[in-house]
Amino acid sequence: MTNSRLIPFTLCVAAGFALSACSPNTSSAPVEASAVVPAERFFTADQFTYANYQEVVVKHAALDLDVNFDRKVLDGAVTLRFERLTAGAQTLTLDTKDLLIKAVSLETKDGWMPADYTLADADPVLGSAMSIAIGADAEHVRIIYETSPTAEGLQWLTPAQTAGKKKPYLFSQAQAINARTMLPVQDTPAVRLTYEASLRVPDGLLPLMSASQDGQDDDGNWKFSMPQPIPSYLIAIAVGDIKFKAINDTIGVYAEEYILSAAAKEFAETPMMEVANTELYGPYRWGRYDLIVLPPSFPFGGMENPRLSFMTPTLIAGDKSLTNVVAHELAHSWSGNLVTNSNWRDAWLNEGFTSYVENRVMEELYGEGRAVMEQALDMEGLKRAISEAKRPELTHLKLPDDMEHPDDAFTLVSYIKGANFLFFLEDRFGREKFDPFLKAWFNDNAFQSVTTEDFIAYLHVNLHKDNLDALTRAELDAWVYGPGLPPTARTPESDAFEKVEFAWNTFSAGDGNISDLKKNANDWSTHEWLHFLSSLSNDKLGNAVTKEGMEQLDEAFELTGTQNAETAFAWYMQAIKVGYEPAMPELEKFLMSVGRGKFIYRLYGALKDNGQAEMANRIFAKAKAGYHPIAQRRISDILAE
Ligand code: BES
Ligand code: ZN
Repeated sequence: MTNSRLIPFTLCVAAGFALSACSPNTSSAPVEASAVVPAERFFTADQFTYANYQEVVVKHAALDLDVNFDRKVLDGAVTLRFERLTAGAQTLTLDTKDLLIKAVSLETKDGWMPADYTLADADPVLGSAMSIAIGADAEHVRIIYETSPTAEGLQWLTPAQTAGKKKPYLFSQAQAINARTMLPVQDTPAVRLTYEASLRVPDGLLPLMSASQDGQDDDGNWKFSMPQPIPSYLIAIAVGDIKFKAINDTIGVYAEEYILSAAAKEFAETPMMEVANTELYGPYRWGRYDLIVLPPSFPFGGMENPRLSFMTPTLIAGDKSLTNVVAHELAHSWSGNLVTNSNWRDAWLNEGFTSYVENRVMEELYGEGRAVMEQALDMEGLKRAISEAKRPELTHLKLPDDMEHPDDAFTLVSYIKGANFLFFLEDRFGREKFDPFLKAWFNDNAFQSVTTEDFIAYLHVNLHKDNLDALTRAELDAWVYGPGLPPTARTPESDAFEKVEFAWNTFSAGDGNISDLKKNANDWSTHEWLHFLSSLSNDKLGNAVTKEGMEQLDEAFELTGTQNAETAFAWYMQAIKVGYEPAMPELEKFLMSVGRGKFIYRLYGALKDNGQAEMANRIFAKAKAGYHPIAQRRISDILAE
């Protein structure tokens, strides 16, 4: 367990390299400079939980739930096993949000007895603290409850909102702090628990969880178990008219029938990704790895629910061009699920590490050319994200302690600045040293929750101490505790992208015609197209595109209505910027049918910023009911800003 003792300044100095771990916002514990695994953990408070997990910690949850589609609620009970870390602790405090609590009891020598509890007033972000009097001996508490039909972590789809049109669908999204809308739980990534579940669902529907799928018992209960301890944000459920197709013995795809075989084809290289990931960073520790393709309202590209990544159908492009998202979610099986950020201020430990590992795996499978193109596209995005940051602290890897919502941690700063910090370390120490170092990091910290300061201490002890010339403390601090992109950042250089830029320059300067461009673009991959499309309004790269240019491009390449969701998104962004009307009906269709936040948040934002607020509001009014609650909240905020 982490501990929160403040350490005296002299110990900070003794910790040497880990100096800025002693900055005011993070209390810390001493580091044995000689130990390979620092004996004690640093601590950063999680300001997004009410749980008293440093006194009493929940170790296991047993769910027993009816999935009620008529009322759009999960209805039943959870039994929690807990341990006291502080002798004499009398209270267990849990996170809840929008839950209806019906009864609470404790297991005592005399059997289950009603327990006293209080539910505090609700905070709009955090929900309500639930404090249960646990007496001196009890180790189990049972809470009978149901969720709210508007729980932010659950989307209930009517049959009409599914592809099959006949049966309803439910899926969850617990990250970052929506597990508390599904069950009363210590909803902080600092706490890890195992879980099991027994679910009842209407006939003809298949329930799945982020766990081992243990089948149906004689009474019709569907059984699940997750024997590895995970943070609450990885508890997940999906229920629907879902079919399965194996890719190999341990990897397969779940999806609605309409997309099942296309998904299995698109994701056919997942086994190779698992091999590459394992060779680089050690064994895959979770048993099976399956993917589920969710309905299009799923608000993310993917979500790394253990054993069962949740994926958007917008990845099924037909040509495997978007499978880096599979590499990403799979990589979370090491970075994030195995070694977890212990609070959301350290989100880069999950997402930056994962983006780095994702890119290494893509390089293994498809070569450096593709890996560098992906780095370059990411770098464009990062620079935009940095320039749009509301305040400089939000561009630090170690995020500030006053974020309004933990979702604010998931910007390209955590993902791409984080990954680039690791590229930087890789360059400085060399792959021969850095690869085994990262492998050891995952192994030594397996099933633990860690902070940025833990990583810095581990880096010092295991890599930097014996290679002091490789980097300075100031260089490291600039990455972790400083704003923007440090001067030591690597610039991804893609020959393929240079050719793309040259083609656009020539065309936009009037030095070539559309048929020259057609010849050049003949064999472009999705990545080259994405770079091309983002170059259209980048006046450093030739002239910004005009409406007439858009028309020519559209006629030559049939971009409006393209089936590749990434290309479509990039094209509609340009269409909005230059007011290219012919794309608008297809843009509207896209917004009506796709709920992936990465696309729709920016499309709505761009409409609003380019004088099309009315159109944005009109489409949102129609599309809203089909969007996930998370997306509804985000877009309402964007349009209200
Ligand atoms: N863990 C994230 C999804 C997430 C982010 C959930 C923030 C809740 C809050 C997932 O691993 C992810 O990063 N998905 C990306 C894909 C990736 C290739 C960048 C996405 O959804 O686009
Ligand atoms: Zn991720």
